[in-house]
Amino acid sequence: MNKSLRKTVIAGNWKMNRLASEVPSFAEELLPRMEKTCGVDVVLCVPFPLIPAAVSALDGVHIGAQDVSAHDHGAYTGEVSADMLKDLDVRFCIVGHSERRTYHGESNDLVNGKVHALLARNITPILCVGESLSRREAGETLAFISGQIREGLRGVTAEQATDVVVAYEPIWAIGTGRTATAEQAEEVCAHIRTVLTELYGEAVAQRISILYGGSMNGGNAAELLAQPDIDGGLIGGASLKPAEFADIIRMGSENE
Ligand code: PGA
Repeated sequence: MNKSLRKTVIAGNWKMNRLASEVPSFAEELLPRMEKTCGVDVVLCVPFPLIPAAVSALDGVHIGAQDVSAHDHGAYTGEVSADMLKDLDVRFCIVGHSERRTYHGESNDLVNGKVHALLARNITPILCVGESLSRREAGETLAFISGQIREGLRGVTAEQATDVVVAYEPIWAIGTGRTATAEQAEEVCAHIRTVLTELYGEAVAQRISILYGGSMNGGNAAELLAQPDIDGGLIGGASLKPAEFADIIRMGSENE
């Protein structure tokens, strides 16, 4: 196992929060605090209408989207294509977030279509997987996550797989303040790497960044990021606070 083969990725997920007009003041608070950090891919996934403001204000931060259409173009009212994201300089895109799977009924099949749409445009998918509390209590976590990974990555080649980021987000830890322990998070992230090894071989699996998400904050990030198979974080609530987000970025850079 060699962590140095992988990029540390600290990705914020603003969900449906903030306005485009609020982006410049956020940037003013965040960017000076990021000056001494290095070796980390810092990503901020913002709502679609905020993308141009974020791209122009957040120098040194990769701007990501939170969803994409699986279709290339055409009569799909309300959807946004990977081409449109690429055109705005979007580099990353969350797919299969549990909030989309739960509230919009997204299946692994649909998530897989979105992964392919992004890879075809050289946008890095951040493929989210994670179990509910009832699955965890039933002892089904690892089998369930394996299924989400295998189905989400169906048809993705070994060469393409090195452009994918996986995020393990236990549903019971998202927005609840109840973080997975470092041991729980590491157990699942290590399992994800085993599944990736089965799919793509050791050399490729060792190069894929696996993030933890679910109530990661300035207080618990260091311990989570120090785990051997956790290569970064997908951060919701704490990414809305520039000082705390910068702290987590610094902890990520200390792990480099
Ligand atoms: P949270 O959200 O950090 O607010 O728990 C994480 C996520 O859903 O990506």
